[in-house]
Amino acid sequence: MADLTVSVATRPEFGDYQCNYAMTLAKRLGRNPREIAGDVISNARLDDVASSLEIAGPGFINIRLNDDWCIKMATTLASDPNLGVPLTGAGRTVVIDYSSPNVAKPMHIGHIRSTIIGNALDRLYRFLGYRVISDNHLGDWGTQFGILIMGYRNFLDPKALDDDPVAELERVYVKSYAKSEEDPEWLAKCRRELVKLQEGDPENLEMWRKFITLSMDEFQRIYDRLNVRFDLTRGESHYHQMLPDVIDRLIKQGLARESEGALVVFLDEEKLPPCIVRKSDGAFNYATTDIATVLSRISEFNPDRIIYVTDERQQLHFKQVFAICRKLGCKARMEHVWFGLMRLPEGTFSTRQGNVIKLERLLDEAESRALAIVRQNSPDMPPERQKEIAKAVGIGAVKYADLSQNPQTTVVFTWEKALSLEGNSGPYLQYAYARIASVRDKYAERFPNRDLQSFPIRITEPVERTLILALLRFPDAVLNAAHQHKPSILADYLYELSQIYSTFYQNVPFLKAEEGVRESRVRLCGMVANVLGKGLNLLGIQTPERI
Ligand code: ARG
Repeated sequence: MADLTVSVATRPEFGDYQCNYAMTLAKRLGRNPREIAGDVISNARLDDVASSLEIAGPGFINIRLNDDWCIKMATTLASDPNLGVPLTGAGRTVVIDYSSPNVAKPMHIGHIRSTIIGNALDRLYRFLGYRVISDNHLGDWGTQFGILIMGYRNFLDPKALDDDPVAELERVYVKSYAKSEEDPEWLAKCRRELVKLQEGDPENLEMWRKFITLSMDEFQRIYDRLNVRFDLTRGESHYHQMLPDVIDRLIKQGLARESEGALVVFLDEEKLPPCIVRKSDGAFNYATTDIATVLSRISEFNPDRIIYVTDERQQLHFKQVFAICRKLGCKARMEHVWFGLMRLPEGTFSTRQGNVIKLERLLDEAESRALAIVRQNSPDMPPERQKEIAKAVGIGAVKYADLSQNPQTTVVFTWEKALSLEGNSGPYLQYAYARIASVRDKYAERFPNRDLQSFPIRITEPVERTLILALLRFPDAVLNAAHQHKPSILADYLYELSQIYSTFYQNVPFLKAEEGVRESRVRLCGMVANVLGKGLNLLGIQTPERI
């Protein structure tokens, strides 16, 4: 049987929803599609759902929904704490690996996007009822630590370390790395320090711990500002003792073999290049750690799926790792969510050091620009409150600028667009939310002690119907955003909803409407506010009651 899909009609004259089932079926059955559509219509029992079913064009079925049914559905949606979104993840577990910056290096733009997109997926999956285990897979192990230890011992500027620890760590690393490239003796020393660390030398271990603490302090400040929390922060180091076992398993199962001194898994069947799991000098690499990580997560959490969020440059790496894990018998669904780079036009940020954007400075700037907007909009608000709201608006603007784009395209960030109050931006939607929510307050002021919920929703104008239909699409937007790993689907939906609301608001009276119609409209308003607020919250964006 062909899949029966019903999609939102592309034009109002095609009804509310359209179905091309008859056409798909016609091909299989070798019958006339219009005839099949006729059969479908005469046999469909949709009396209370649809007010009309029509054959259109070559065999489309145009569906117009019944007003009463729409009202009933919208009322049900509004009284459901999950706003009509089905708990498709109940009883299921997903591990989401995101952010994952590297110790002793500032977060680069890729980690920032991973943090923002990963956190939106984290929230979406939780909302769908999944048990989510979010894991920040820090880069805290590997050959770079020998180089870093040598750099730290020999080139450190203690004052610079105080001022900006991660930048200073990176500086001494870069310097030591450059020396290791031209001075074989230095390189040998770096290797020795690495071996000492791996063997548990107390002094090197202490230094290594210090690198982690200093880096985590900086990362944590950013997570706090972005309102991002992880269930686990297990770095690569957590798995390093398991690596020899992974190698054993790969050899025993006949998957890995020696090639030019290295141990390699060939992936010809998968049409992928071979993957080195142990280098010729005996060191394990990034892939080995990731295989161990999958095995460990499976035995500990028994997840149904594992999702990784990184930039596009790691596509091959994850294809190889997933292929090897499948060969080892892993059944969990493994998915790599990758995104393109974000382009930053020259002069976007007031503070840049070399090519590294200090994320903290970016967030500072977002907040100070947002403060100017809040001061202009609400000059009478106490300054402390203005600052608080500016934080929510500034951070929301940065997040939305990222989340509203298809992740797999190159995003160009500009302040004008991110902070625009007219276009598709975070502040625009936050502002829309605040205005919508205020209608309820105004109503309560003018008509105190009325039980709004006891007045039924009514459709008296076409725009009310359009708004109700838009509300009913919220569950689909959430499901599609989560399942396609594209928060932008939800962002697009929220923007569209806010635009339909704005037509509604501009074209019909609210508080001045007659009793009954008035209450219905105020209730609709409340439903839009709830959906918009929930939707923004799923994107990790706060919704202040005033801006
Ligand atoms: N630390 C890595 C990087 O900065 C990202 C890690 C992603 N997660 C993973 N399990 N490999 O490129």
